[in-house]
Amino acid sequence: MRILVIGATGLLGAEIVKCLSADHEVIGASRKGPALTVDISDKASIAAMYRQAGALDAVICVAGAAKFAPFDALADEDFAFSLANKLMGQINVVRCAREAVQPGGSVTLTSGILAQHPMPGSAAVSVVNAGVDAFVRAAALELAGRLRVNAVSPGWVAETLQRMGRDPAEGVPAATVAQAFRKCVVEDITGQVVSAASTPQ
Ligand SMILES: NC(=O)c1ccc[n+]([C@@H]2O[C@H](COP(=O)([O-])OP(=O)(O)OC[C@H]3O[C@@H](n4cnc5c(N)ncnc54)[C@H](OP(=O)(O)O)[C@@H]3O)[C@@H](O)[C@H]2O)c1
Repeated sequence: MRILVIGATGLLGAEIVKCLSADHEVIGASRKGPALTVDISDKASIAAMYRQAGALDAVICVAGAAKFAPFDALADEDFAFSLANKLMGQINVVRCAREAVQPGGSVTLTSGILAQHPMPGSAAVSVVNAGVDAFVRAAALELAGRLRVNAVSPGWVAETLQRMGRDPAEGVPAATVAQAFRKCVVEDITGQVVSAASTPQ
């Protein structure tokens, strides 16, 4: 398969590229490359990326930011940024994919455990993650037969916890999360939110 990974240079993206590269042609994208450049908060940038990418069998989006901050510190701009970036950015990755991805191909988005298990500071992030989950379930109904659409919902990643000075044993290794993305690409599933968490969601 010919697979585009948006966010390929990130912690999870690099593991996904490693996991898929043995059996597939993988093209990496992010704001700085490595192969294609894209800013998912800009719909025109997404369309331009697809034009450059050529025909694809699958797209994985493991990029997108949302603001984590205490409730009283979250400004209008923080909610607007979060919605435009990780939520609408990923929705537009699907909306713009229909001509680039071969019939029966797939787009896999990324949400996160904070949709189901919020914590102080996660008001904007939880909304965005829940929105991604709802979008794939709804969009899959109308894209059936044309495009498979799924999301992977990671829990805290072990390597991220380690970088934060927390116990990595409480998280799920990035390599395990990468397997959930692989499942969405190779298995004939759509409208699914695949959990990759160390705690039940
Ligand atoms: N790590 C965790 O514990 C965890 C847990 C749950 C969910 N998640 C979710 O998983 C996703 C990836 O997390 P990560 O830890 O791998 O993040 P990361 O290491 O910060 O990597 C983010 C990747 O996305 C790219 N990127 C960022 N903004 C972009 C944009 N606007 N347009 C295009 N590319 C963009 C970055 O490259 P450039 O800077 O070059 O653009 C980079 O390749 C995020 O959605 C995150 O919320 C992570």
